Amino acid sequence: MGVLFTDMEIRPLLDTVYQLYGFDFRDYSEAHLMRRVKHRMALSHIKTVTELQERTIKDAGFAAMLLQDLSITVTEMFRDPDFYSVLRTQVIPMLKTYSFIKIWHAGCSTGQEAYSMAIVLQEEGLYDRATIYATDFNQTALDQAKNGIYSIEQIKEYTGNYLKGGGKEDFSKYYTSQYNSVIMHQSLKRNIVWAQHNLVTDGVFAEVHLLLCRNVLIYFNVDLQTKVHQLFHDSLITGGILCLGSKEGIRVGDVHEKYTEIDKKQRIFKKRY
Ligand SMILES: C[S@@+](CC[C@H](N)C(=O)[O-])C[C@H]1O[C@@H](n2cnc3c(N)ncnc32)[C@H](O)[C@@H]1O
Repeated sequence: MGVLFTDMEIRPLLDTVYQLYGFDFRDYSEAHLMRRVKHRMALSHIKTVTELQERTIKDAGFAAMLLQDLSITVTEMFRDPDFYSVLRTQVIPMLKTYSFIKIWHAGCSTGQEAYSMAIVLQEEGLYDRATIYATDFNQTALDQAKNGIYSIEQIKEYTGNYLKGGGKEDFSKYYTSQYNSVIMHQSLKRNIVWAQHNLVTDGVFAEVHLLLCRNVLIYFNVDLQTKVHQLFHDSLITGGILCLGSKEGIRVGDVHEKYTEIDKKQRIFKKRY
């Protein structure tokens, strides 16, 4: 079924979602919103945005589904392995100069990125002096993250990523297998603090040495990217490191003036002031 509507038509829907459920998608990118709203309408056989809005108002279960649709949680362990190689060679040596290390994964989804960091820190002898804050606005994703249970199929892919990204250990030492899934070891979870945090509506979460927000800003329009960049800047210590996704950058407003580039391709930046 083809679903046709304009971006203006979804504005009242986004206002409703914000007013009733507190999630503010009004400054997400138009392309993302159109794609995801169309997807939900097709799946639920809804023909007009007005009908979609009515369902969202009347049916909290349906609204929860729409919220999941608007939050893309695709992730991997050691996603973009080259990023992890550079993390190990360029960023870890800087972290070694601190007696304690605070790291924030903003938009951590189902936890794979935070577990990847925990593994790198363990291997580099930094885990015991680190606190990893892993946040997302999606509570369902966070619950999965806390459990740290992944399928065997995913683990095969993650093992490949780990090795490509400079991992030298036997990856199976980080999890215990249970039938068709694995559970990540408690030793990796010990210093991870999972928390719900919305980048659009919540403030500074912690002052950190390293901030990773990968593959989240791509869903925001330029105004929202600028606002969230201010939050990142306020959250980093001077000399702190910002890591973005491969399609994201700091060329919004005057943000680029506040950072030096550590690695252009891997989108790793150091806060200057
Ligand atoms: C594509 S995943 C990226 C996961 C991981 N950072 C990675 O690169 O693999 C995007 C995540 O951003 C989260 N997200 C989207 N908007 C957010 C917001 N306003 N505040 C916090 N998290 C948000 C989504 O729930 C989702 O889990």
